[in-house]
Amino acid sequence: MENGGGANSKRESMQSIPIDEVLSKSHLPVDAFVCLASGKFLMVAKAGAAVETLGKFKERGVDRLFVRLEDYLSLVQKSVEEAASSLGVADDSRKFASVRDAVGSVYREIGDIGFDEEVFGHVKLVNHSTLSLMAKTPKMSELILKLDRLPGDGVKHAMMVSLTAAMLGVGHGWVKPGTIEKLALGGLLHDVGQARLPQNILDKPFHALSSDEQVILKGHSDVGAQLLAQAKSTPEDVILMVQEHHEYADGSGFPRGLKNLQISPLSKVVILANSFVDRMEKYSQEPASERAHLALERITKHEAHLFDREALRALLRIFPGFEKGKIAG
Ligand SMILES: [Fe+2]
Repeated sequence: MENGGGANSKRESMQSIPIDEVLSKSHLPVDAFVCLASGKFLMVAKAGAAVETLGKFKERGVDRLFVRLEDYLSLVQKSVEEAASSLGVADDSRKFASVRDAVGSVYREIGDIGFDEEVFGHVKLVNHSTLSLMAKTPKMSELILKLDRLPGDGVKHAMMVSLTAAMLGVGHGWVKPGTIEKLALGGLLHDVGQARLPQNILDKPFHALSSDEQVILKGHSDVGAQLLAQAKSTPEDVILMVQEHHEYADGSGFPRGLKNLQISPLSKVVILANSFVDRMEKYSQEPASERAHLALERITKHEAHLFDREALRALLRIFPGFEKGKIAG
């Protein structure tokens, strides 16, 4: 019955969901697994089974179940399509492929980097909340799917920043699920304003832009914040994270040149998450664990003045292998 493969090769191909959410349905839509102490996954119910059979796991203290990532993403895609059709919005199912690819590749990368297993499991639950919210909110799916227009791999970058911000929140010791979910959402949507910029500006490297074009590009933080404010249900904290994601603690960022004390607490985390992922992307030729090491070294030794100290400490904490690392300055 075991789902084959080594524990490490499997954990990034499984998605955790709260057991209460599964128990609230009448039948299981997909096969369900529990994670054994060995790290391997054991199938406990097949698709179509009545969920009552899983109640005994909750009684034994199991608070989450696992489903195959591919099954899970098909379910999210179905919800996105249903939400879109109920509101008469254009069918975005084809575009959902970019979200599907991004989740798969970011999970693999996080697995390869070697984050703490517990942090990874926690973050998958948060990603589940974010994707569920996206599936239920056509306006939000529309914004996220727009990231596909960005140069490089916009959706993957957004997903990586989202999960890194959530992990940093956990590293901070913040325990409220709502706080971690806001971080994940702010991380996912941070560059959404770029999707409104002219394509010819998006396609050029920053140094090739004229000074006017640079001003337009730097406006994407405010444009993104405005887009989210129009979506009405977006929490104020999330709008601030989008507006402030390029500010730096020493005041050298944009658009307002805010200093650390003026930057909102959750934005400080998204700023670091975005910069960390950016730096990792610059070392794309290196293996995942090496990329993370190089990015961490660059940030803690040469760029520490740009970031909030507590956020930097949280970053060191979520990399067990770097615990003894020093922050310069
Ligand atoms: Fe940005």
